[in-house]
Amino acid sequence: MNYEQAKDVLKQNGQDHLLQFWTKLDKAAQKALLEQIESIDFREVARCREMLANREKPAAKKKGVPTAPEVTFLKGALQKKAIAAGERELAAGRVGVLLVAGGQGSRLGFDGPKGAYPIGPITNAPLFYFHARKVLALSRRYNARIPFYVMTSMANYADTVAHFEEHGYYGLDKKDVIFFKQGMWPGMTEDGKIILDQPGHVFMSPDGHGGMLAALKANGCFKDMARRGVETLFYFQVDNPLVNVAEPAFIGLHVLQKAEYSLKLCAKRGGREGLGMVVRRGGHFDMIEYTEMTREMNFRRTEDGELYFKYGSPAIHVFDRAFLEREAEKDMPLHLAHKKIATVNAAGRIVKPTAPNGYKFEKFIFDILPEAKRVALVAFDRRDEFAPVKNASGKDSPETCRAALRAKWRRQLEGEVHIAVPADMPLEIDPLYMYDGGDILKRGFLLKKD
Ligand code: UD1
Repeated sequence: MNYEQAKDVLKQNGQDHLLQFWTKLDKAAQKALLEQIESIDFREVARCREMLANREKPAAKKKGVPTAPEVTFLKGALQKKAIAAGERELAAGRVGVLLVAGGQGSRLGFDGPKGAYPIGPITNAPLFYFHARKVLALSRRYNARIPFYVMTSMANYADTVAHFEEHGYYGLDKKDVIFFKQGMWPGMTEDGKIILDQPGHVFMSPDGHGGMLAALKANGCFKDMARRGVETLFYFQVDNPLVNVAEPAFIGLHVLQKAEYSLKLCAKRGGREGLGMVVRRGGHFDMIEYTEMTREMNFRRTEDGELYFKYGSPAIHVFDRAFLEREAEKDMPLHLAHKKIATVNAAGRIVKPTAPNGYKFEKFIFDILPEAKRVALVAFDRRDEFAPVKNASGKDSPETCRAALRAKWRRQLEGEVHIAVPADMPLEIDPLYMYDGGDILKRGFLLKKD
């Protein structure tokens, strides 16, 4: 894109001010600004502006009274059937793993991709290690290729790739680890003007994990999945090292129920806990993000005194590839966040605001839930699979996460292998050797045979 073309596009979209400092920029800055302008999807910008003008929260448009959905508990014969079905999918190479890792570790005071945050209770192994070693454990167990798609932001792409390189991909075949970048969207002022945060630079931020669909398409990942014969995708977030990546029972239930979108759900700690909430409304399943739940909904109780909206979403999902491809063709709802964003004054000086002055836009992947023709909801015990690292201290911190990891390993060793582990004994287990307790049993058996 050259200057004239940029000027035309900006004029058509009411954003001419982006070139107001053009003559003051050096050649390199001019080139970088043109590249930024070229990368902006002005159709999406128009949607953002419309949303700002109407001040509409996506939830406000929705019809129907939300009610709590039925959930499935995986046990007994159903569990056995689900495990067998999931194992068939894994062994046939029809399963892929999708990790959304666009976040930075800034809330933890950590400089770098959040996935590089050290969490191993003894070794300080990073979050990425726990995720990658589980993919490796399953691919060895089922003697199958399991492609691992890792979504990064523009900001942490290079650091994430370098991290995996440096650690030898944690034993995974490099060809099966596919990094792809999510999109960036410009921030806007209240009146829909895109913000320059420097005279030659547009303020842009990642488009949310919902940006994954557009990014999978744009980066040829759907084609890669089709080429590999991958039909089912396990999705999870970078901050939770307890997650049972591509757990056979969960994959199996999804397949048995011919679901397009399956979700794991766990009982909330209490009304206040910030978890997305799956509800039924207007004949569909839907997710209400915790920021959009009303106080009444958060604290409503049943006659037995239980929370009415009891099961929250830890963002552990299974998707059909065909469903994701279908949804990638549609517009997703937008969510806006009011933020403090540096701006440039008429003289070209950078001004740091003291109060929120602009808007960032994001898409959430779970907004495609109402579009799914069939949905499976699986309840699980959060002690086994959910201890995210979100805050530097207190709840959902590295400390609580490490304690949950140790407790899980101890339960697995004691419950499934009958090895007693003192509560205060330092403990860390490489998921390659123990994806679950069954692995240790098999290992013990093999050792005896040898
Ligand atoms: C999220 C969910 C919430 C869920 C909770 C469970 C959202 C909006 N809410 O909350 O429903 O109950 O986790 O822990 O997601 N990410 C990207 N790109 C982005 C933004 C985020 O890849 O542009 C990734 C992050 O790296 C992370 C995940 O998405 O892996 C979640 O993002 P985060 O901002 O941590 O969400 P929460 O507010 O914790």
